[in-house]
Amino acid sequence: MQVPDIIIAIDGYSSTGKSSFAKIIANEFGLLYLDSGALYRAVTLFAIENGYIDDECVIDVPGLEVAMENLDIRFGAEGTYIGDRCIEQEIRSLGVAGKVSPIATVPEVRAFVDRKLREFGKARRLVMDGRDIGTTVFPDAELKIFMTADDMVRAERRAAEMIAKGQDVNIEDVLKNLQERDYIDSHREASPLSKADDAIVLDNSYMTMAEQLEWLKKIISERFGC
Ligand code: DC
Repeated sequence: MQVPDIIIAIDGYSSTGKSSFAKIIANEFGLLYLDSGALYRAVTLFAIENGYIDDECVIDVPGLEVAMENLDIRFGAEGTYIGDRCIEQEIRSLGVAGKVSPIATVPEVRAFVDRKLREFGKARRLVMDGRDIGTTVFPDAELKIFMTADDMVRAERRAAEMIAKGQDVNIEDVLKNLQERDYIDSHREASPLSKADDAIVLDNSYMTMAEQLEWLKKIISERFGC
């Protein structure tokens, strides 16, 4: 299927499979894939390692804002990097997951990440996943999807992913982390997680990836005539 030059914005709750779906879409339609959450996770790792957030999640916002001026986050062959250092493993840990939502409430952090995301979006053949892509980063995206799924199904998926990577996890901790993140992400003041009015809801609790792709192809073919 040949799709025109479009931006597909995928938003939704934590661990609904947004990034897995987005990668498959990118591959299927020849679009660039960008994971906006990875940028928030990278800033969080940087803040933890440099003392801009403490164990109680108190954030030194002025210090972090200045330090971000020299923060070189990139995407490369192995995922996310700070300069030449690959941080893909570290940013997926529960340590980072436990602090990323507070970091993502900081307007200065959101402005930093938004700037980077819009630079990437100049390409306009793009699929990007996150929490505010269809509402704030690319409100003019040609196609917006809002993903949701049952809490326990999501926790099981995320735990399986972490176990496969050799991490030691407890399903209750994973469930608690994703419910906490959903709460903070949906209730923050700066561009909270919410469904754009023109987004289409996808509840994938009991759908395979192949079924999700079929669902999307039907929408794309109806909307863009391809
Ligand atoms: O998609 P993810 O789980 O990797 O995202 C990690 C966190 O980053 C998420 O809990 C909230 C924040 N985030 C955000 O606030 N806005 C985005 N566009 C993407 C992620």
